[in-house]
Amino acid sequence: MRTLGILLSLAAAAFIGAAIVLYAGVYDISATDQHLRPTFWLLQTGLRESVEQRAEEIEAPPLDDPILAARGLYHFRAHCVQCHGAPGVAPDPFALGLTPLPGSLSDAAREWTASQLYWVIRNGIKMTAMPAWQFRLSDEDLWSVVAFLKTLPDLSPHAYRQARAAGPVAPTQAHSPAPPDRERGRRALRQFGCVGCHVIPGVVAAASFVGPPLNRIGTRAFVAGQLPNTTANLITWIRHPQAVSPGTAMPDLGVGERDARDMAAYLEQLR
Ligand code: HEC
Ligand code: HEC
Repeated sequence: MRTLGILLSLAAAAFIGAAIVLYAGVYDISATDQHLRPTFWLLQTGLRESVEQRAEEIEAPPLDDPILAARGLYHFRAHCVQCHGAPGVAPDPFALGLTPLPGSLSDAAREWTASQLYWVIRNGIKMTAMPAWQFRLSDEDLWSVVAFLKTLPDLSPHAYRQARAAGPVAPTQAHSPAPPDRERGRRALRQFGCVGCHVIPGVVAAASFVGPPLNRIGTRAFVAGQLPNTTANLITWIRHPQAVSPGTAMPDLGVGERDARDMAAYLEQLR
């Protein structure tokens, strides 16, 4: 009984201590303040273990086709080199100021398996600037990037400069036979930045009132005061607000049909 009392007092003291540190603003949040070694180790180990665990079941397709790697190079130049750099190529200036620093991928390509690389690229890494690409690249394109990364360790700066990229495969977004998926839609509402302007129940983000809150959007008679609130119209609005209402503050965000359909399925049940 006595030990329990002591343990409870210690827990309470730790909790109060943590609250004081938090609310007194003691923690330096600046990106120039480097992590303590133990914190850094904790984050790195957590990242590695989490990816290993989640990539275990993923089976990589054959990746040694040079055309696949050339396609991957196209996406790498379009989406990755800005942050990670390449042999003989520096990252863009903004990327050098990020914490954690996006490292050169020549190392990662050697250390991580194809399935782990695929998982990271597809899902991104929370609390870092590493984006999730699953809403922007098709599955085939994601694997093409992995195929290219696997050639990186052997690529000299000269060979990187000379390498010719193949165009991307046609977007596979357009028509998906899968039924609308609310849970996928909920994630898409975050991944297309909708919560940057709208409060959306069930999607955690800083409250923003740039656009109207979308709670109970399922009960609304009109979308944006213009279109009768049907599934088709909601999808049209999400994909092409500027065409429906030229000059509205809501930008066209490049949302594909499948993503818009899934978002609509989520929004419609907010009643
Ligand atoms: C906006 C910047 C940014 C962009 C764009 C970006 N990344 Fe990253 N990436 C990061 C950051 C930050 C990390 C985390 C580094 C860490 O935790 O040490 C990371 C981590 C990774 C990792 C894990 C390996 C490691 O070294 O930590 C891989 C693999 C990766 N990125 C691949 C890619 C690919 C492929 C693309 C392009 C499709 C890409 N990244 C685009 C910022 C970016
Ligand atoms: C830059 C801010 C901004 C972003 C980002 C944004 N919206 Fe909007 N949204 C607005 C504004 C402003 C309106 C009101 C437009 C109007 O009534 O003309 C609006 C209206 C809407 C409406 C109609 C609301 C109503 O009450 O009728 C829906 C639905 C909607 N947005 C969904 C989305 C989705 C889904 C996304 C992400 C793909 C998104 N918005 C991204 C600013 C934004």
